[in-house]
Amino acid sequence: MKVTLSLDRSYSEDLSIMVDALRASTTINTALQSFKSVITAESIKKAVELAEINQATLAGERDGAKIEGFDVGNSPREIKNLKGEVLVLTTTNGTRVLERMQSKVLIGSFVNARAVARIALQLADNHIEIVMAGVKGRFVLEDFLGAGEIINHLQDEELDEMAIASLMASNDKEEVDRAVKNSYSARGLRALGLEKDIEFCLKRDIYNTVPIYKEGIIKALK
Ligand code: MLT
Repeated sequence: MKVTLSLDRSYSEDLSIMVDALRASTTINTALQSFKSVITAESIKKAVELAEINQATLAGERDGAKIEGFDVGNSPREIKNLKGEVLVLTTTNGTRVLERMQSKVLIGSFVNARAVARIALQLADNHIEIVMAGVKGRFVLEDFLGAGEIINHLQDEELDEMAIASLMASNDKEEVDRAVKNSYSARGLRALGLEKDIEFCLKRDIYNTVPIYKEGIIKALK
């Protein structure tokens, strides 16, 4: 099995894993513990429309902050306390990247790295592509290190050099935690009073859930 790592864009027609460690991947995994599905929307307007049609809880952020009038932000800790049938989610990067993917699409991060790697090996034909969501097209450290955590469970496969680099970088858990906490995204979340979300997103393998995305709808595979 070939394992490659890319940023912002997906090239695979086989299987991709979208990684947005702070926070969309973590939020989606968390939401699927108490919602039957998550519907993604690229724009705020579309999210509001979809929430009305589906009588859904409306969640989302722009530049990290909760969107005015929405039920909740993109905070996994806040979403953890909610439940219902459908959660509609719009985020700055994660949901936008998902909507441009062509392959089978799973969603992973620190919180479900082991489970998502296991299911990816079952579902892919010959290529697992890990896609770092980044921030507005830019590389960010937390997605690179979150990808490395997943690749740690795929080490016996044929890794490309980006994948090898992220595996090497994510070797030391304490270093990873320190780097993510000092990252540009973490500093932004901290400035918004969302420090505890950073800790939450760094929890390892707390979920066995594997979110699978298809045509705007995310459901849990086990
Ligand atoms: C995103 O998808 O842009 C992120 O998850 C941003 C965030 O809410 O921290």
